[in-house]
Amino acid sequence: MQQVTPRLAGLLSLCYLTSCAAAPSVIAPRGPAAESIANLWWTLLAVGMAVYVAVMAFLFYALFRRRRADLDLRTPVPRSRVQVVVWAGIIVPALILLGVHGLTLGVLRILAEPETPPALTIQVIGHQWWWEVRYPEYNFETANEIHIPVGQPVAIELVSDDVIHSFWAPELHGKLDLNPGLTNHFWLQADVPGAYWGECAEFCGVQHAKMQFVVVAEPVDEFAAWVEQQRRPAQVPADPQAQRGLEIFLGSECIYCHTVAGTGATGNLGPDLTHLASRRTLAAGAVANNRGNLGGWITDPQHIKPGSLMPPTDLTGADLQALLAYLATLE
Ligand code: CUA
Repeated sequence: MQQVTPRLAGLLSLCYLTSCAAAPSVIAPRGPAAESIANLWWTLLAVGMAVYVAVMAFLFYALFRRRRADLDLRTPVPRSRVQVVVWAGIIVPALILLGVHGLTLGVLRILAEPETPPALTIQVIGHQWWWEVRYPEYNFETANEIHIPVGQPVAIELVSDDVIHSFWAPELHGKLDLNPGLTNHFWLQADVPGAYWGECAEFCGVQHAKMQFVVVAEPVDEFAAWVEQQRRPAQVPADPQAQRGLEIFLGSECIYCHTVAGTGATGNLGPDLTHLASRRTLAAGAVANNRGNLGGWITDPQHIKPGSLMPPTDLTGADLQALLAYLATLE
């Protein structure tokens, strides 16, 4: 129970943040790929139920029919009964399996590529345990949050920096692995604006369960505004406390792992922080992005995400508050 509760709490908090009513369901699709998967699932369920009912009917017929008084086991089985076994036991099941196989191949074709070629390519790089998200056409990167324009397909290039991960946003598409040294080509399309929860679906180490992301599908103009905002380098804050926070940040070890565009921080081991304050979650969906959680994450990340590669920081109260004030300006 102690193992489960933080995971559930994380899930619920993410749901709250992303305004989804419950955990995402593969049978509540919000895009064409997920819809074809859900349709196949319903079809298989219906076929499976029909076969089950037919088999049970045969079984009960055999169990409860009246035994014939004149039954003589030495007489040969009538030809008509042999034909029942051949049809119901071999030919019909083979036809059903062939039909299901054909349906599955059709869905695989739909999943392989979208109907129209995607106009936008997003690179997603899996790390233990977070998602690096790059927009090469716009020359910026973010983390654990993928924004896409609603109603059109986007191409996703999946690669891993370390071990095998798996990219899965259940309401939008199936799963695809991220392999080290190999680029896998994927696509996403959401037909309804919204924030869709995604997660790593391949066990990848101690914090596999806290390797989540959000796909934010928004109307084209909102997406364009988001892109413009993400492309902007960080500004020197006007507030004196935040200015002191910037000095603390640039004098700390943070800059060896994190980038803030427009400053001397150019590390690339951890997530790009240029627009940290605009994101919904911290540590790949582990906690909501607010000042309290960010303070806790900076001072004791192992408490929130044991095994995370983020080291603790021993900042004093006033310095920590100044740093938090600075990070809050990174919108
Ligand atoms: Cu990455 Cu599981």
